[in-house]
Amino acid sequence: MRRIDIFDTTLRDGEQSAGINLNTAEKLEIARQLEKFGATIIEAGFPASSPGDFEAVQRIANLVKNSTVTGLARAMKSDIDTSWEALRGAEQPHLHIFLATSPIHMQYKLQKTPDQVVDIAVEAVKYARKNFPLVQWSAEDGFRSDPEFLVRIINKVIAAGATTINIPDTVGYATPQEYGALFKYIKENVTGIDKVKLSAHCHDDLGLAVANSIAAIENGADQVEGTINGIGERAGNAALEEIAVALHIRKDIYGFETGINLKEIKRTSQLVSQLTGVVVQPNKAIVGKNAFAHESGIHQDGMLKNRETYEIITPELIGETTAPLALGKHSGRHAFKDRAITMGFDLSEDKLNEAFVEFKKLADRKKEISEDDLYVLFTDRQIQH
Ligand code: KIV
Ligand code: ZN
Repeated sequence: MRRIDIFDTTLRDGEQSAGINLNTAEKLEIARQLEKFGATIIEAGFPASSPGDFEAVQRIANLVKNSTVTGLARAMKSDIDTSWEALRGAEQPHLHIFLATSPIHMQYKLQKTPDQVVDIAVEAVKYARKNFPLVQWSAEDGFRSDPEFLVRIINKVIAAGATTINIPDTVGYATPQEYGALFKYIKENVTGIDKVKLSAHCHDDLGLAVANSIAAIENGADQVEGTINGIGERAGNAALEEIAVALHIRKDIYGFETGINLKEIKRTSQLVSQLTGVVVQPNKAIVGKNAFAHESGIHQDGMLKNRETYEIITPELIGETTAPLALGKHSGRHAFKDRAITMGFDLSEDKLNEAFVEFKKLADRKKEISEDDLYVLFTDRQIQH
């Protein structure tokens, strides 16, 4: 099976979300958990952006041993020098340099010609390679760049010593077919692309980040970048837990493995949510509160007969303890009886029916029936042995 590396940028791109501000202790806690989660690379921050980021990257680089630690840098010597100071203590110092390559970014943001951009990128990568054994170069807004220009600049940065090439969909504009086709084109046209790692980095503005990342992998990407719970600027980044589980559950068609410790997913998601303050939406795939909640009577009945009727992923796979079937107004008598037994109650059929009628009345008024509500309903009707 082909191995896909997972590049986690929760602490850099994820932390760029509006309203998130993690302190160093919190970043260290998340980094430790990301290591357990099995991220191949942890992007710990942007060392030149602030003293706080510098300190966090330095401490994470010194702490984490089982994942490669990287930091982000603009294509300028001062950023590269600062990053080296932050990352030199890492097991395998890795630097991530980015420079925009799309016409709109080059003209308005950088105010440079394409030739100047090529020179800046080459200079930066060569300079970084003097110290860093591993240098990733990212073509910011790569998806909206001219593919022929991308081939030209990528050839040059590989010759300058880049060890990974990343082509981000910075503004989340790509469709899976288009993003996949761009990776295929790069694979076919860049000399020496097979000697470096090719990476995908997707944003979720159109809700396509995970699908685009998978399309890139199918077309030759060796690495995917994203964040836990999909947090990140605007609509966020590709959610790594979704990519990891999708590749695992559908390995029959994809045939890729990630090395992610799936059992750490729930814990990692909860930690990131708790420390960033970004609540996970209840219906979020894999880690949402309702991701394994079956409420309707028909579904619950099916689940009680054979879980595979409605469950393609088990909660245990991601380290979640089995959630009892949620009881609400759509639930059936079968699930209701099952819960009574699980809670240790022994009810005659008449008493069970009576409790079920009361339960339905209550469920009409309340959205969710709690364990306490059930306790009251069952206790009075319990058979006395
Ligand atoms: O979205 C993006 O282009 C980025 C780069 C810095 C890689 O986050
Ligand atoms: Zn990004």
